[in-house]
Amino acid sequence: MKKIKFTEPKINLTSSTKYIKKTISNNFPNEGELTRLLEKKIKNILKVKYVTLTTSGTSAIYLALKASGIGKNDEVIIPNITFPATANAVNMTGAKIILVDISKDNLLIDLQSLKKKITKKTKAIIPVHISGRGTNIKEILKIAKKNKIRVIEDAAEAFGSKFKGKSLGSFGNCGCFSFAPNKIITTGQGGLIITNDKKIYLKINQLKDQGRTKVLNNRNIYSYRGFNFKFTDVQAGIGLAQINDFKARKNKLISIYRFYKKNISENINFKLFDFDLKNGELPLWTDAYCNYVDELFLFLKKKNINCRCFWHPINTLPPYKKKFKDLSNSKSLNNKLMWLPSSLYLSEKDLKIICYYINIFFKKKYKFL
Ligand SMILES: Cc1ncc(COP(=O)(O)O)c(C=O)c1O
Repeated sequence: MKKIKFTEPKINLTSSTKYIKKTISNNFPNEGELTRLLEKKIKNILKVKYVTLTTSGTSAIYLALKASGIGKNDEVIIPNITFPATANAVNMTGAKIILVDISKDNLLIDLQSLKKKITKKTKAIIPVHISGRGTNIKEILKIAKKNKIRVIEDAAEAFGSKFKGKSLGSFGNCGCFSFAPNKIITTGQGGLIITNDKKIYLKINQLKDQGRTKVLNNRNIYSYRGFNFKFTDVQAGIGLAQINDFKARKNKLISIYRFYKKNISENINFKLFDFDLKNGELPLWTDAYCNYVDELFLFLKKKNINCRCFWHPINTLPPYKKKFKDLSNSKSLNNKLMWLPSSLYLSEKDLKIICYYINIFFKKKYKFL
């Protein structure tokens, strides 16, 4: 039986080869012409003023925080259920991580929990647009504005997803995305930051290039401590080949979610999370609440169907260990969340098989209950 994967990179070989050949004939594999072209195309898709490509989504978040002046003695609020990258990026700045609970309805930051955790030291909130969902962004902006706090969106899973027609990632001070292999577009590894703030944009570009601020008398001037988080034109070539059929990718992901929604018999033990497709939300991966994650995961695996279990909450990870106090939703959702296969290569036949087995699993389950 064919193996059905959770996600697969979809790299257009012919088109990528054409771009990479250009990079090689330019003899400039560093960040250059093709990187600028990819940034320009992304700018047009996401409708923002400034785009900077970088090495990963993690370094994108880190750069956005650093460029916003966040560091030691500051507090940064993140949701308790997210990929560890969100926490690790904050940790690298030296700021204190403040965990807030998530909403059971959409897995996004719970607004009441957020309000309670704001202190005089809070400098930034990082809303995480899980699976491409970001419907609470306007409320978060309101709370942030009232308290003079920066908003850095972790939109790693939300490239091309919108809230009421506006791109997620473009609401806050900065939006950070990932081009890792399980994303809608991949450059192997890679990430990007978007912003409408010129000052932040310039700072990010300096920080990712060892703190280089200018060239004077034929010498590079390094004015402060920076890093090497530059992109490469080899990666840009792979990205360009995919960005050119971005619309088709988007439509494919929407059709996968719609198929699941129509063909899976949801029940008290298995429920898909909603996406607001009408307003432009894009389901990168279809996610579900499931009371039998481990059983269902193994049952499907035996049928050659690969799902993905959600991450454990951040407060359970050794570096960030703390009690579940004030984090009751993330506690009750721990081990109850999963993603269904969401590969751009899924055929209708694959989707029928997946839905069939999920429905069978619960039919059998109920007989035994
Ligand atoms: C929510 C979230 N934040 C951050 C990241 C980090 O991105 P990267 O793996 O490109 O560093 C990811 C990556 O998968 C993610 O899902």
